Amino acid sequence: MKKLNVGLIGAGFMGKAHVIGYANMPTLFWPAPAVPILRSVHDINAEISKEAVARFGFEKHEVSWQAIVNDPEIDIISICTPNDSHAEIAIAALKAGKHVLCEKPMSNSFEDAKTMAEAAIVAKEKGIKSMCAYQYRRIPAIVFAKQLIEEGKIGKLLNIRGQYLQSWSADPNSPLSWRFQKKVSGVGTTGDIATHVIDITQYLAGDITDVVSQVSTFIPQRPVQECGVDLLGTVKIPGDAKLADVDVDDESSFLVKFKSGAVGSIEATRNAWGRNNFLTLEIHGTKGSIVFNYERLNELQVCFSDSPDDRRGFTTIYTGPLHPYPEATWNIQGLNIGYGELKTIEIYEFIKAIAENTESSTNFEQSYKVEEVVQAVMKSHQTNTWQTVRDERGNLV
Ligand SMILES: NC(=O)c1ccc[n+]([C@@H]2O[C@H](COP(=O)([O-])OP(=O)(O)OC[C@H]3O[C@@H](n4cnc5c(N)ncnc54)[C@H](O)[C@@H]3O)[C@@H](O)[C@H]2O)c1
Repeated sequence: MKKLNVGLIGAGFMGKAHVIGYANMPTLFWPAPAVPILRSVHDINAEISKEAVARFGFEKHEVSWQAIVNDPEIDIISICTPNDSHAEIAIAALKAGKHVLCEKPMSNSFEDAKTMAEAAIVAKEKGIKSMCAYQYRRIPAIVFAKQLIEEGKIGKLLNIRGQYLQSWSADPNSPLSWRFQKKVSGVGTTGDIATHVIDITQYLAGDITDVVSQVSTFIPQRPVQECGVDLLGTVKIPGDAKLADVDVDDESSFLVKFKSGAVGSIEATRNAWGRNNFLTLEIHGTKGSIVFNYERLNELQVCFSDSPDDRRGFTTIYTGPLHPYPEATWNIQGLNIGYGELKTIEIYEFIKAIAENTESSTNFEQSYKVEEVVQAVMKSHQTNTWQTVRDERGNLV
């Protein structure tokens, strides 16, 4: 069986998630399309690099990301660093002939995201694969929702409402990590979590063509955190810590129009007390509705118009071995999957694309469509007008 050597760059929250995916993929998906080998790791924090060898099982750690990208034995680069280093690493890796799985968003700059998409189009000609880590579209319940839509079970799509609400930055004492600094993150909540909803809604309902938005920053200053790793609000900062400015958004909400004629709305905030990973969708069609909530990710609620009037209402489908990605779950409905299995499904799709020389549905070219919507959302906020996303879509090479 073919083996693929993996180099991981950035070993924080997402680095761990990628490792879980690589390590578990052949366990869940067997025969595996190829077997990933955890070859080398680099984190800018030397302690984290060293620890990643012992903890995750990498063969070695390197002192620079360039050492991994230029290692002829490496086949795959996983980029799990903050957004400001994605473009440089990804473009160098694609040029060096490595397959690249990059965390979302693509970059801290729309121009760099476009350059990444263009580099991926050039690399594609040589069989080199790219993928952006929009894992939520691969949740079995979401893939099943797409099947229902494509089978016409809810008729013509009318409206799709998406929300991604979290609470980890609602506390003003939650630290000024890289996620609140424009130079590193690029865009705040919109680029961070709204991107997942944009990706899923475009997956389910096709391209978004127009947006009008409202973007807010509620907490203008936060205490400075004296280390690079973003602990997502779990860290406690001393009361006398110095404050610095937040220059990104805490929340955005926008109306969207789809090419298909459907309409919708998207809201994202990290300041919603009581909401944890509240990624929800409500989809209305001419013949029915579908509801999804990540906090109950193994369930899909459906309502069909052809049910008798006195029995019509939402019923709950529990996803399991009869639904998409049965390999990722167990042979009994209700035993369920979680975030680790979801990242494993993502890694499976990436390795399959490499082994079978096919394209991932979230390759850089496709994922650039998310960046274009984010760009239009920010422009709409600045100009207080509807923005046509198509105007933002520059021609890729
Ligand atoms: N797909 C998802 O749902 C999801 C969820 C969380 C984060 N992310 C994305 O993953 C990326 C990483 O986020 P995270 O939450 O893991 O952050 P994190 O702060 O937990 O980890 C980042 C790691 O990268 C290291 N690092 C920083 N700059 C580096 C550099 N130049 N070279 C090498 N290492 C460097 C840091 O020391 C840290 O260990 C971001 O782009 C983020 O948007 C995606």
